[in-house]
Amino acid sequence: MIRLALAGLGDIATHAHLPALLRSERVEVAALVDPLPERLAAAARLVPEAATHASLTPVLADPSLVAVVVATPPWVTTGLVRDALAAGKYVLAEKPLGTSVAEVEQLTTAPHERLQVGLTYRHDPALERLRDWITGGLLGSPLLIRAHIYDEPRAADGRYARRMLGTLEHGAPVVHEGAHLFDWLAYLLGGGPSEVADAWALATEPGLGAPNLGGARLRWPDGTTALTEFGWWTDALPRCEVSVLGADGYAVLDGFTFDLQLRTRDETRVARFPGDRTTRSFDRQLDAFADLVTGRRDTAVPGLDEGLAGLALSERIVAMAGGHE
Ligand SMILES: NC(=O)c1ccc[n+]([C@@H]2O[C@H](COP(=O)([O-])OP(=O)(O)OC[C@H]3O[C@@H](n4cnc5c(N)ncnc54)[C@H](O)[C@@H]3O)[C@@H](O)[C@H]2O)c1
Repeated sequence: MIRLALAGLGDIATHAHLPALLRSERVEVAALVDPLPERLAAAARLVPEAATHASLTPVLADPSLVAVVVATPPWVTTGLVRDALAAGKYVLAEKPLGTSVAEVEQLTTAPHERLQVGLTYRHDPALERLRDWITGGLLGSPLLIRAHIYDEPRAADGRYARRMLGTLEHGAPVVHEGAHLFDWLAYLLGGGPSEVADAWALATEPGLGAPNLGGARLRWPDGTTALTEFGWWTDALPRCEVSVLGADGYAVLDGFTFDLQLRTRDETRVARFPGDRTTRSFDRQLDAFADLVTGRRDTAVPGLDEGLAGLALSERIVAMAGGHE
């Protein structure tokens, strides 16, 4: 049983990490950390036996806690990860690991072989299946990938609105959502793009911390091209999906369910996997982390390199688009 702490008890922690931690028979949530007393109290109702702390410091001093799941905003995450690694903890940290490459590069001098990055959905079997279709030659090559990552509709006020507007102050959607998408593309295509051909950004209203729409055209050495779009904060949002088109076939990944469809001249195939995407991916992510902590695997996947690669690409796109970050 791995005794661990969960730090940051906001939306993703309470809706996805904590349920996965409580479902797992390999971990025990022994401590909860958040500076906000109401968040601590709400999480403590679900795990009454866990210790509660307003800061990570007591967790770092407790040798019985071997790991920390960090689910804080990215502008807080880098420092907590650095301190936890320095204290010898294994860390599963939410993406992005920070808001700039310069900041996150500090972690390269920490013992980061104990760090797994929360690029959650790369653990989903749908991505593995799509990669098999691509590498198995079912679609042909080169490929045209159209990735439309639209999430987070505009809201009038309240906690969600404050969180989203606050997050925009720390970077455009390409920084936050790009962490996932660029990891999927690198996973599917065996590496990141060789070129950012062009990039754009657009704010649909004044006063936002960063443009809420944006994207880039990415190219790989074989000519494969990805047209990527990211968007938040409009009342209605386009479909969220990733499609892959080659001479021999067309595959579509539903961005929310991760249901897959393949069409070729000869067949139409649908691939659906058991359970919902969040449960499936968070359970598998946690299993991979437990394997790392117990020594069943010796490399964190995805680790710091993957986290940094996505952030570097986002940063390049923001700079090319001339966003007002
Ligand atoms: N993997 C995914 O699918 C996924 C989905 C959504 C969000 N995220 C990421 O998860 C992170 C958190 O997002 P969220 O939507 O839950 O945000 P949130 O604002 O709802 O929650 C963050 C929590 O961290 C707490 N916190 C702040 N400073 C802290 C500190 N020093 N120590 C401990 N706790 C601290 C806040 O009080 C808050 O409760 C972000 O990086 C986001 O990008 C990942």
